[in-house]
Amino acid sequence: MFREAHLADSGSNVQIVHSTRRRGIEGRTGIQVNSIATPSFPLARSGVGRIGDHMKVTEAAWPPPLVALNSNENAFGPSPYAVEAAQSAATRLERYVENQHHILAPVIASHHGLDAERIAVGCGSDDLLVRLTRCYLEPGRELLRAANSYPKVPNYAHACDAIPVDAPSSGYAAEVDSMLRLVSKRTRIVYIASPDNPSSVLMPASEIRRLHRGLPSQVLLIVDGAYLEYTDRCQEAGLFELVAANQNVVLTRTFSKIHGLAAARVGWMYGPRRIVGDLTRLQMKFPMAVPSLHAAIAALDDKRHTAFVRSETLRLRQLWTNRLSRLGIGVQPSQSNFLLMDFRETGRDATSVLEELQGRGIYVRQFLLPALRTCLRLTLGRERQLERFGSALADILENPGGRQPSL
Ligand SMILES: Cc1ncc(COP(=O)(O)O)c(C=O)c1O
Repeated sequence: MFREAHLADSGSNVQIVHSTRRRGIEGRTGIQVNSIATPSFPLARSGVGRIGDHMKVTEAAWPPPLVALNSNENAFGPSPYAVEAAQSAATRLERYVENQHHILAPVIASHHGLDAERIAVGCGSDDLLVRLTRCYLEPGRELLRAANSYPKVPNYAHACDAIPVDAPSSGYAAEVDSMLRLVSKRTRIVYIASPDNPSSVLMPASEIRRLHRGLPSQVLLIVDGAYLEYTDRCQEAGLFELVAANQNVVLTRTFSKIHGLAAARVGWMYGPRRIVGDLTRLQMKFPMAVPSLHAAIAALDDKRHTAFVRSETLRLRQLWTNRLSRLGIGVQPSQSNFLLMDFRETGRDATSVLEELQGRGIYVRQFLLPALRTCLRLTLGRERQLERFGSALADILENPGGRQPSL
């Protein structure tokens, strides 16, 4: 018995997929068999074609960056002990290391005073977000987030043939009531980042709790804490408590930012044991490069370096918020290692500012979200990098399209 199921548009020319229910196979196994009408090539699931760019990537034609302030990296680098640990581990690259999860999770747990069984580890928090969405989304189900939140998130939903839903915001920050209004029977995941990227706005723990209270218990709330270590006041304890007391909240964290290990790809998640178990089932057998594993352990141990990165970033954050504001640029109150700059009041087009900066080898980031048309995001680099950026920007604002002094 055959039944036509759905139209597929994977961005290719292929349009129609017939879903066949074969009583024999399906009856015995519960598996639905898809027979494809015409294509003579492998056909990706339909959501794959919907995965798109979320930020302006740097064209190869531009000169290489002299000052790279576009990727929210830690300009101060990792702890020297982390580098040493990675170098030492790199002398044994012929070896697999099994049970990486059981090596790193207890170290993270004892650092934060958490239960190691509630910690999952992975290749950056990106890997955790990929696995969470793979695990809890299905075709036709929804992932809800705020419209101007971390722009990569809709792609996680597309990869699962699920539907990303954007809750509108009056400004750049996520609004709890607007999100709650869009929760439906189809919602499986609600995502927030706090501090968010690119706005850098923090959602207070009380608001996160209110959002959670408004969700049905089968909806998973993901709190992305990639920049949590940079907030003025520590928000961590309240979030750990929320996760510990509930079965449907997780908090993702990363070693890419405050620990300066973006290239090492190490992230972790604190969550209910059942979710940690599900994610561990989906984990690759050897999830991390071994030098990365050792770098992460050494980085956690070097509390002095972490404190230095934090205090220097917070100092520069205040300084540059003031300096940019004096140039007439709107700066969101930042709680991270970057600033969202709005050029609306300067009368200058953000894209032309971006291009003039890039022409001078200074790279900042532009996003493809309509609400961010007038904005650029500046990563807080080292003082001398920011000085070079600042004098180039002042010159560009004063002399639009003028000649570019070489650096
Ligand atoms: C809000 C947010 N979440 C997650 C990530 C992913 O970080 P990583 O995969 O390096 O841990 C980023 C990276 O910039 C981010 O800004």
